[in-house]
Amino acid sequence: MGIDSGLQIGAGDTAIAITHLPCAEAGAGIIAAMLSRPSMSPHRWTASVAPMMDWTDRHCRFFHRLLSRHTLLYTEMVTTGALIHGDVPRHLRFNIEEHPVALQIGGSEPADLARCARLGESWGYNEINLNCGCPSERVQRGAFGACLMAEPALVADCVKAMVDVVSVPVTVKHRIGIDKSEDYGFVRDFVGQVSEAGCQVFIVHARNAWLKGLSPKANREVPPLRYESVYRLKADFPNLTWVINGGIKDLAQMTTQLAQVDGVMLGREAYHNPWLLATWDQQFFGAPERAASREAVEQQMVHYMERELEVHGTPWTSIARHMLGLRHGVPGARIWRQIWSDHRLRDQAPQAVMQQAHRMDDCLA
Ligand SMILES: Cc1cc2nc3c(=O)[nH]c(=O)nc-3n(C[C@H](O)[C@H](O)[C@H](O)COP(=O)(O)O)c2cc1C
Repeated sequence: MGIDSGLQIGAGDTAIAITHLPCAEAGAGIIAAMLSRPSMSPHRWTASVAPMMDWTDRHCRFFHRLLSRHTLLYTEMVTTGALIHGDVPRHLRFNIEEHPVALQIGGSEPADLARCARLGESWGYNEINLNCGCPSERVQRGAFGACLMAEPALVADCVKAMVDVVSVPVTVKHRIGIDKSEDYGFVRDFVGQVSEAGCQVFIVHARNAWLKGLSPKANREVPPLRYESVYRLKADFPNLTWVINGGIKDLAQMTTQLAQVDGVMLGREAYHNPWLLATWDQQFFGAPERAASREAVEQQMVHYMERELEVHGTPWTSIARHMLGLRHGVPGARIWRQIWSDHRLRDQAPQAVMQQAHRMDDCLA
C-alpha cells in the first residue's frame, strides 16, 4: 500500500493537490492518521456538514470534500454494537481526502464507547462525536440518542471514558430539550455536567426531540426551532465551543449565526444543494481559492467512481446518488439528474454516463 499522486481541485496555479491513499484495509487508518491529521484549530468547527444516516457515507463525504477543502465532515452515526460485533472496516473505512472528518458514535455504555472511540482514533478520525440527539424509537430502545439528555450523569461518564483514552476531541451533538418542556435549565444543566467531564465542543440541533409520537423525519421539522437557547448557552458557557444546527439554508443565514456562535452545521441543505459548499473555504476559512466548476467536480467524481469500482467493486450508482443535487437550480438539472440516477445504465462506465448526461445538456442549449 502506498501513497499515489492524487486528485486536484481547481486548475493551474490555484489547484490544490490532494494525496490519495486507499484506506481499504483494516489498519490503514492508523497510517492515514499519522500522515495527515491536521492541527487542531478552534476554527475547525466554523462550518460543517451534519451526520446523516444513509446519506453522509464515505462517497458523499468525498464529494463534499471536492467542494470544500476545510469544512468539517461527519460520518453517519455508527453504533457501538456495530463496531464491537460487526464489520469494522465496512463501518470505519474512509478516503484520506476526507480529512478533517469526525466519527459519530451512538451508544450509552462508557466502556463500549471508550473502546469504539479508540478504534475511531486509530483509524484516523479527527474527532469522536457522541449522538445525544437522535429521537428514533429504535435508538431509544437501545437507550441512547436524544433520550440520553435525561441522564446527564451517564453522558458525563461516557464522555469521560472516551476523553481518557483518545487525544482527538470528544464532542457531543444534542437537542435543546426532550418532549415538550421548554425549560432552559434542563439543557444548561446537561451541558454543565457533560462539559465538566471533558467535552468542550457542543453541537446543538436547536429544537426539542419529541420522544413519542413523531417519526425522526417529523422530529426534524415539527418541534419549533429556538436558536435563542443556543445563544444563551454560548453566553452561559463562553469558554466552550458552540455549533448551531437546524433549518439553516444559505450563506446569509450562516453568517448571521456566526455573529452569535462559533460554528454552523448544515444537514439537509448541504445534501440537496451541495454547490453551496463551494464558497465556504473563502467565506469562512480564509482560503484564497474556491472549488472549480461543477463540471470539474463531476469529472473528479467520475475518476473516483472508476477507482471505487476497481478497488472495491462499488457500482457508480452507489456514489452518484450523493451528487444529484450538484446542479440544483441550474437549467437542465432535471435531465442531468435523471441520467445520473438511471439504474438501467448501471453497467455502463461512469465516463460514458457523464457523456450522456452532457449530451442531454447540448440538446437543451
Ligand atoms: C437523512 C437524515 C439522517 C440523519 N441522521 C443523523 C445521524 O445519524 N446522527 C445525527 O446526529 N443526526 C442525524 N440527522 C440530523 C442532522 O444531523 C441534523 O441535526 C438535522 O437534519 C437538522 O439540520 P438541518 O436542518 O440542517 O438538516 C439526520 C438527518 C437526516 C435528514
